Amino acid sequence: MNGMRLLITGGSSYLGRYLTRLAVADFEVCYTYFQNDPLGLPQGEWLDVREETAVSRLVHTFRPHVIIHTIGSNRCDDMYNVICRGTAHVTHAARAINARLIHISTDALFDGRHAPYTESASPSPLHEYGRAKAAAETIVSQHPDHVIIRTSLIYGLHEMDHSTAWIARALQAGKPVVLFDNQRRNPVWVETLARACLELATTPYVGILNVAGRQVLTRAEFGLRLLDWWQIAARETLQIGKADGEKWPLDCELDLQRATAVLQTPLYGVDEVLQRFTPPECTRKTADS
Ligand SMILES: NC(=O)c1ccc[n+]([C@@H]2O[C@H](COP(=O)([O-])OP(=O)(O)OC[C@H]3O[C@@H](n4cnc5c(N)ncnc54)[C@H](OP(=O)(O)O)[C@@H]3O)[C@@H](O)[C@H]2O)c1
Repeated sequence: MNGMRLLITGGSSYLGRYLTRLAVADFEVCYTYFQNDPLGLPQGEWLDVREETAVSRLVHTFRPHVIIHTIGSNRCDDMYNVICRGTAHVTHAARAINARLIHISTDALFDGRHAPYTESASPSPLHEYGRAKAAAETIVSQHPDHVIIRTSLIYGLHEMDHSTAWIARALQAGKPVVLFDNQRRNPVWVETLARACLELATTPYVGILNVAGRQVLTRAEFGLRLLDWWQIAARETLQIGKADGEKWPLDCELDLQRATAVLQTPLYGVDEVLQRFTPPECTRKTADS
């Protein structure tokens, strides 16, 4: 144990579950959940991040040295309020007690027309989720001791990620699925992202940092690799197609030079990760199970 208190907002999220399990070895952890507490640990606290008083009370009671704010994916009900108001509440509480704040942002706040994106690139969102995450970054940047992690598609091999789980369910039900071959991303292994978060909790870096996998793949290449790894054989209704670049950012490649220099955590690409493991026999678990 390093003697530091760490608050993880959204310990019930896909990233948060992995991060919390990793963090408890070194930190005194408190994590939050809203609709579900899949971890079921004594350190879990129910929280609606839209309630300012509740956020403030939790932060002032636990008094974390560091807050890792994972709440705010595109799957939340009331997404704009959860992302914007929630991030404002967490940021104000962090400032009030001088806690370090690590905020999880996304490559989806870019328009996808000016890749690769360095840390100095300004958001240019095309959709509501991107606009909300861009607004959240502005709020977090007002806190002097902050890190904004811009990351890409999160996947893991212990538990199926959200989008692969959705694709697998649709294919197994015989529903049409289109994987886009004109969208480029740097998928990030959940272990990489979680370790980078914990590393940044105890190092002095301030500002935006791109943290993602060093292999750039199209959504189709990435989707097919994960379907193979999870041994999803149903492919009859699978098609390869083109995403509409007016509605969705096409190329969100993140420049990883700064993260490679700053972090000890290796930024493994998808193929490096998959080669380290053999496909599971009986440990498969979907993101939503
Ligand atoms: N997944 C990706 O591929 C990806 C890519 C780039 C960036 N990111 C970023 O990474 C972070 C984690 O993403 P994720 O996919 O792991 O998240 P997720 O699994 O979709 O989880 C969403 C989290 O938000 C919580 N939540 C929703 N409404 C809430 C409310 N009103 N009050 C408090 N908590 C609330 C949920 O709690 P309950 O489940 O308990 O309701 C859950 O912990 C997000 O900030 C996201 O923007 C994700």
